[in-house]
Order: sequence, then C-alpha cells, then structure tokens
Amino acid sequence: MRSTTLLLPLYTAAFAAAISYPKDAQAVLQQPQLTIVEPDEYLIELSPGETRWVTEDDKWELRRQNINFFDITHNEELGTLNRKLTGSSVKFPSKPAHNESIAPLLKQLKKDNMRRHLETFTSFHTRYYKSHYGVESSAWLLSQVDKTLADSGAVNASVKAFPHPWGQASIIATIPGKSNKTVVIGAHQDSINLFFPALLAAPGADDDGSGTVTILEALRVLLKSEEILKGDHDNTIEFHWYSAEEGGLLGSQAIFQSYEKEGRDVKAMLQQDMTGYVQKTLDAGEPESVGVITDFVDPGLTEFIKQVITVYCGIPYVLTKCGYACSDHASATKAGYPSAFVIESDFKYSDNKIHTTEDKIEYLSFDHMLQHARMTLALAYELAFAEFK
Ligand code: BES
Ligand code: ZN
Repeated sequence: MRSTTLLLPLYTAAFAAAISYPKDAQAVLQQPQLTIVEPDEYLIELSPGETRWVTEDDKWELRRQNINFFDITHNEELGTLNRKLTGSSVKFPSKPAHNESIAPLLKQLKKDNMRRHLETFTSFHTRYYKSHYGVESSAWLLSQVDKTLADSGAVNASVKAFPHPWGQASIIATIPGKSNKTVVIGAHQDSINLFFPALLAAPGADDDGSGTVTILEALRVLLKSEEILKGDHDNTIEFHWYSAEEGGLLGSQAIFQSYEKEGRDVKAMLQQDMTGYVQKTLDAGEPESVGVITDFVDPGLTEFIKQVITVYCGIPYVLTKCGYACSDHASATKAGYPSAFVIESDFKYSDNKIHTTEDKIEYLSFDHMLQHARMTLALAYELAFAEFK
C-alpha cells in the first residue's frame, strides 16, 4: 500500500469562521496541526471475502451508487482474533420480563430533549469524520453524555472518548453491572455529504443525528432506575457513539476489534441508525411502523427485539433488509458478537434525503423517534437483568 503523509491544518480558521457552529465548540479550533498518514488506496470488503483496493474518490462513487462496504484497510484482523467467540450460541430470554419496572421509566422519555439535542447537533456544518467540525461535534456530544451522567448522580457510570487517527473520536459510556457480560447500544455520530464530503454541509438529522439523540435520551432515563443507578443489574451496559461509520464502519470496527482482542464478553449489540423519518410510509397509505432488519444480524437477538417492540412500543414492526455492511451492527457481527438493527420504516420507505444538505430536522417525526427510544430503553433494561449462561 502506498501512502502519503499529509500535514492537515484541517481547514483554516478563516474558512471555519465563515460557517456558524455552537459557541462551546470554539476551543477545539485552537488545536495544533494534526499529522496523519493517509493511504493512496483503501482496502474495502463488499461481501464476505470479496475485497478490492480503491481510491478515496472511488469509495464515495461506490457510496453514491448505493454500494455498501467495510473499509478494512486498518481492520483486516476483525473477526479473526478470537475464534472462541460464537455469537450464535448466546441465549436470549424467551420473553420480556420487566414490564413493571420499565413502564414507569417509559413515561419519563421526553421528545423535547431529543429535539433540543438534535438542534445543536445538526447546527455543525458537517460531522464528517475528517473535518474539524467532526472533531468539534464529537467534543460537544461527549460533553452532553458527561452532563447526562453527572445529572443522574450515578457514581459508577463513566464516559470516555475512544480516539482515532482521523480526528473525530468515538464515545463510550459505561454503566457497570455485577458482571462483565456486556450489552451495547450503538448509533453513529458522523454525517457525510456524499457529493463533496470535505466541503458541503451535512446536517445528518436523520442519518444519524436521530439515532444519536434517541440513545442519549434512553441513557438518561435508564439512569432514573434505582437498581441501575446503584449498579444492581446483572450485566454491564454500554452506549456507543461511533465515529466514521460513513467512511466504511471505521469507528465501530476499531472498537470491536479492540474488544475482540481483549476478549470482551459482548452478549448483545443493538444499533439505532435513522429513527425519525416516516413520511414515505404514510404517503404510501401504510401504518407507521419500525423496520426490523433481518439480514446480517443475530436471529435470536432479533426475535427478542421483536417481542420488545410488541410489548413496549405503540406501533408495530415490519421485517426488512439493509444489505452487507450497512451500519455499525455489522462490525459487531463480524467480531463474533450478536447484533440487531431496527430502522425507521421498511427500507423502501426510508429517508432518501440522507447524505445531502437536505437531511434536516424539519422532515423528521419526534413521535417516531420516541418509539425508538422506548424500544432502546426497554431492551437495555431487559438485557441488563437477563441471565446469560
Ligand atoms: N444510515 C445508513 C444506512 C441506512 C440507509 C439504514 C437507509 C437504513 C436505511 C448508513 O449511515 C449508511 O449510509 N451506510 C452505508 C454503508 C456504510 C458502510 C458506508 C450505506 O448503506 O450505503
Ligand atoms: Zn449514512
């Protein structure tokens, strides 16, 4: 692989100043220049074992043609490090069992919090993982997660940045339980404008600002549970906000590769990517529903999430598919961890404004996001107390 060392001022301050961004992001602009090594070509995996070397421009061209891939340039080992991990052998509860504890929590989920968070999050010009805006949006998100934990009074919970060479860090919040068996709730924090990633605006309201604020609200309310607050739950719960999903699942691969290397015992991973758009479903005269992904996911965990939706959500689910490597749950699957993914609708009715300047809040439904928050909170609580043998 050829490579070039680039000295990246990550855009000049003058260019940055021409575009508005939240005040508390200013400090990050003063960071010194970053030196990162950028390859001339990237190794991508289009289906299991089918790999190809491509330039960065080729990557965006494939994306514009709706071709999904893992960028495995730096993650070739993912899925090969810990052969002992056999995700499919994890047994999930036969049905939800904590309705009495969960029902009062569900009432505390607030659409207003999601809207407020999403307004600031989409006000960054872009959250492109290689831009300084992406570094700033990540710092802002970290501060919001930190505040959520501090406000909850949880003494054991913590949050940390998981740094990456491209600049924008992933974020991991941990609520330790009585064991190291871990349940992961994920969303991706980066956005992209596929027509000119380094320059054009990418508000990424639906993709995946919606998932980001959905899981943040679920985290806030999960910590309203006395048991969880005290750490009396059986399993450890983590909330992940991945960087660089749009670059080919880069942040989630880095995290799950490190977990695989460390032998971390992840029992379940649920991805929330695109939780807010319902218009095309309604226009088609179909009932509002969520879309349970059935390809490249764990069948047992997916069965359980269907039951969680039936018990805890006010709308039904439809079964749908997303293709190979379509979001970060695929990185968990590849590492040998059971994963599931639920999207805003049937895939064919999902938001087609994503990856453009038009992926804006005004097209989204916070009632629908609330349904995803109910599902996320309920799954996290149920699996926090599940007995994994
Ligand atoms: N949020 C999308 C995936 C998606 C699209 C889910 C439509 C549900 C409906 C995600 O951010 C994305 O763009 N994924 C890429 C692949 C990724 C590996 C670069 C895609 O689907 O093209
Ligand atoms: Zn996307």
